[in-house]
Amino acid sequence: MKQIVFVCLGNICRSPMAEFVMKNLTDQYRVESRATSNWELGNPIHQGTQKIFQKHQVPYDLTKTSLQIKDKDFYDFDLILGMDENNVADLKQMAPAGTEHKIHLFASESVPDPWYTGDFDDTYRRVLAGCEAWLDQLARTEEFDR
Ligand code: 4NP
Repeated sequence: MKQIVFVCLGNICRSPMAEFVMKNLTDQYRVESRATSNWELGNPIHQGTQKIFQKHQVPYDLTKTSLQIKDKDFYDFDLILGMDENNVADLKQMAPAGTEHKIHLFASESVPDPWYTGDFDDTYRRVLAGCEAWLDQLARTEEFDR
């Protein structure tokens, strides 16, 4: 089974939103999420993201807590998707040699951080559109199998 990890700064707002939205769209892939930082390590999903899950009836794991990405993740996951340009830049710095090709920006535009904007509805629209676009692309291209 192919493996996808979504990555943001804290792993409490954007990347867990992408994780559970994607899990709600497909069970074809192993899907998880991580942080580039250890700032929120062990903390639960942000209330703003939990409210979005409830509003849109997206099932989620209440016990999910923030995890920082580690070397093993770069080897294990096939696709490593940073939610914004800074996340991608940080991931490229952290990536063990030979794993950099797995790192991509989640969407053509960075997903603004709702930790700062407070706009979780905007985050949800972008996350849903981005997940659907990845599923389309994965279905259409061979790239994932390389
Ligand atoms: P996230 O949001 O990267 O979407 O999970 C943030 C969460 C926490 C912090 C920054 C962004 N923080 O500064 O602790």
